Amino acid sequence: MSNFDTVDFFTDASLIPDPHPYFDYLRSKNPVLQLPHYGVFAVTGYEEATAVYKDTDTFSNCVALGGPFPPLPFQPHGDDISAQIEAHRDQFPMFEHMVTMDPPDHTRARSLLSRLLTPSRLKENEDFMWRLADRQLEEFLDNGECEFISEYSKPFATLVIADLLGVPEDDHKQFRTVLGADRPGARVGALNHESVGVNPLEWLDDKFCSYIEDRRRTPRDDVLTALATARYPDGSTPEVIEVVRSATFLFAAGQETTAKLLSAALQVLGDRPDIQHQLRKDRSLIPAFIEESLRMESPVKSDSRLARRATTVGGVDIPAGAIVMVLPGAVNRDPRRFENPHEFRLDRKNVREHMAFARGVHTCPGGPLARVEGRVSIERILDRMSDIRINEAKHGPADNRRYTYEPTYILRGLSELHLTFTTAS
Ligand code: HEM
Repeated sequence: MSNFDTVDFFTDASLIPDPHPYFDYLRSKNPVLQLPHYGVFAVTGYEEATAVYKDTDTFSNCVALGGPFPPLPFQPHGDDISAQIEAHRDQFPMFEHMVTMDPPDHTRARSLLSRLLTPSRLKENEDFMWRLADRQLEEFLDNGECEFISEYSKPFATLVIADLLGVPEDDHKQFRTVLGADRPGARVGALNHESVGVNPLEWLDDKFCSYIEDRRRTPRDDVLTALATARYPDGSTPEVIEVVRSATFLFAAGQETTAKLLSAALQVLGDRPDIQHQLRKDRSLIPAFIEESLRMESPVKSDSRLARRATTVGGVDIPAGAIVMVLPGAVNRDPRRFENPHEFRLDRKNVREHMAFARGVHTCPGGPLARVEGRVSIERILDRMSDIRINEAKHGPADNRRYTYEPTYILRGLSELHLTFTTAS
């Protein structure tokens, strides 16, 4: 058992299978607590996380993905380091993507998404999801067992985003292969520790550059053309690469996270036959089931900010240049907000107050999409697979399960989920 006062949250493997006793310990000391490593302040309290997320004047997103890794490209000095941040912008990992930007650049970059996330586009995307769910399930239904993450959740999440962006269906297979959505254990997307610091989205950048240039030359009646001809709010035309980055970042942001949500939900179905039974009896409980899965197993484990100036959160003094790390999974189990927080409850009244999608100007724009992906998948899975169980040959018996989780401090999710089931007629 690690000593929670000294354990290194960023590297200690003992915290990976179940970080919650550690999170509870931090919160019991203080909902905003300085850790012994890298001077990072961990935020495990709900109110305190809200305060950090809402205050974009004080907190910069430049370190959102990696927190203290890599180290800051400068030595902070003084009580306001805003000028230093701006002078070193292009040295932060993923600086070219909206998640690390601050207003007003962030506002401009994010505005391009509004061409994509329109009600009619989301409706078409949902229609695609229903077809895709069946197509994906048919690849393994006859086997009576599957490794759910590589066989369903990753390819599903990848192809939903490809469709959202209007990638022609002829190219879908290539996306699935190149983005590693087929391979067990493959790391898709950029929101994991290993890929911070390099640019994992180069292939996508090239692919989307050619789509956008093509649509600017010869506009058609399709989603890529709508994206290619989008304007900034001031009427100016973005550079091709700016449009491309808003599009390609969706893969990094929306693949691993959604795949992790789906596998967490299926793990519950397998481990809790009572919940599976309730959902089969009353499908209207599915949205609440998805929300509670997001709350209990929030796919984004840490989400960091850099304090531009000296400030105070939850009564704790934070110096300029400190990394403030919100832990959404911990915040979502703050007992001051959620009664019996470690219990999975379908009837939790305030479940939608969870912070799995963050808060403030960077609130996940893909939240509604991820929720629909969850609902459609669970509906079709319940229709087509009966008696879903955890594969005991792989994960052990009900009273002694063996699960492995992705070894990263940034995301929370299973690395494999083996299920057995009976194919429904
Ligand atoms: C269960 C699935 C998902 C979870 C838990 C999740 C979580 C998050 C969180 C916590 C953030 C905030 C990051 C920050 O504050 O620094 C975020 C941002 C973002 N997410 Fe998601 N996300 C999910 C799915 C998606 C999907 C499906 C898409 C797109 C199709 C998407 C696109 C984005 C984008 C573009 C951002 C950056 C927004 C900004 O910086 O303004 N996400 N997501």
